[in-house]
Amino acid sequence: MKIAVLGTGGGARAHVAKPLELGHEVLVGTRDVDATLARTEPDMMGNPPYKEFLADHPGVKLLPFGDAAAAGELVINGIDGHNAVQALSAIADQLAGKTLIDYAVPFIYRHEPEHPWPTPWGIMPKLDPCDTDSLGERIQRALPATKVAKSFVTQEQTTVVNPRSVADGDHTMFVAGDHADAKQQTIDLLKSYGWSDILDLGALVCARGMEMHSPLHEAIRFGLGQQEGRFGIKVVR
Ligand SMILES: NC(=O)c1ccc[n+]([C@@H]2O[C@H](COP(=O)([O-])OP(=O)(O)OC[C@H]3O[C@@H](n4cnc5c(N)ncnc54)[C@H](OP(=O)(O)O)[C@@H]3O)[C@@H](O)[C@H]2O)c1
Repeated sequence: MKIAVLGTGGGARAHVAKPLELGHEVLVGTRDVDATLARTEPDMMGNPPYKEFLADHPGVKLLPFGDAAAAGELVINGIDGHNAVQALSAIADQLAGKTLIDYAVPFIYRHEPEHPWPTPWGIMPKLDPCDTDSLGERIQRALPATKVAKSFVTQEQTTVVNPRSVADGDHTMFVAGDHADAKQQTIDLLKSYGWSDILDLGALVCARGMEMHSPLHEAIRFGLGQQEGRFGIKVVR
């Protein structure tokens, strides 16, 4: 299958490497191909310049966002959550009729919280929207002809693409959306990654809970004293 991954960050890189390994064709979307290839410094999260990543992953095509979306049979959104609605709206025509798996979190990284969190960096990114709306729903409203499924966000990306690295895969991944076929495509992709416990939460409104899980995810990470966040959530029933 042709999988388009919109984004060049660390999360997106995981969803490039794994489908490639599984034999899919992967097209990556970025704002400006030349600018992305010209970068020589690691990004904000310390990921090496994208040119180095491409050299290690031959066969990946780097394209403008719209061209990658147009070529993809399945599209994964890894655009920075704060800018995703605007960036995706600009390529709505190329995304029409397609499944878009959204794993972005609407983080505001720089803000002045009234009650800072005692994280190593003294702050937890703020969610906007939060509680009464979600990024997943905003994307769906902005792109009514696209079928949005929310998933992945409750785990580190390294665990999402390799679930058996934690508890031999005995933990739970969530999916939500208003289109059954889009959720099924997401579930099929997750199964190919190795997931066996995939819980369909129902309508896309459930993206709110998934996005709001991030502060708890961070709290667990610090509670465990882990840098990499190698843990999962298991819904026992
Ligand atoms: N496990 C998970 O589900 C998981 C893991 C990690 C991150 N996340 C979330 O997923 C999202 C992506 O994370 P990430 O770490 O992969 O990447 P990121 O660093 O948050 O975002 C990088 C991508 O956003 C694009 N971007 C940044 N500003 C933009 C703007 N103004 N207009 C259009 N595009 C813009 C960049 O475009 P260029 O390519 O042109 O630079 C790049 O492709 C975030 O919301 C993050 O919180 C989820």
